[in-house]
Amino acid sequence: MLSDKELQDINAELAHAATKASASVDALNIVQRHQGWVSDEAMKDVASMLDMTADELDAVATFYSFIFRRPVGRHVILVCDSISCYVMGYNPLLDNIKNRLGIAFGETTEDKRFTLLPISCLGACDRAPAIMVDEDLYGPVTAETMDGILEKYK
Ligand code: FES
Repeated sequence: MLSDKELQDINAELAHAATKASASVDALNIVQRHQGWVSDEAMKDVASMLDMTADELDAVATFYSFIFRRPVGRHVILVCDSISCYVMGYNPLLDNIKNRLGIAFGETTEDKRFTLLPISCLGACDRAPAIMVDEDLYGPVTAETMDGILEKYK
């Protein structure tokens, strides 16, 4: 069930949207900002506000890597696996992150601090290999700079 604040924020988006469906991503982001991820129940609630089916809205959500359909940790690390990053050291960087955190893609650390996910090009190819932690972009990332990066997120 959506909170009063979520309903209010989504209705505010709808008030200036050209069509209800055009507010899909904003509405999903509102839920994610409040709940950390978008559950099936939240998906149904938002879909009904947008006059869409849950499946239609879910199709929108799955298109965007930044909409999480499963619970995530307090911080999400997105590791770019596209060509520039791949060539510039994706594999050793990913191994380093996995070893440090003890998790694989799609997993969350036991203390719920980090979730690790792949993502396609972050648009920072000139800074490859690049990662994103929450809304912060980093690159080029090395084993050495990972220490300082992770330290920023508690
Ligand atoms: S390929 Fe990684 S940021 Fe573009």
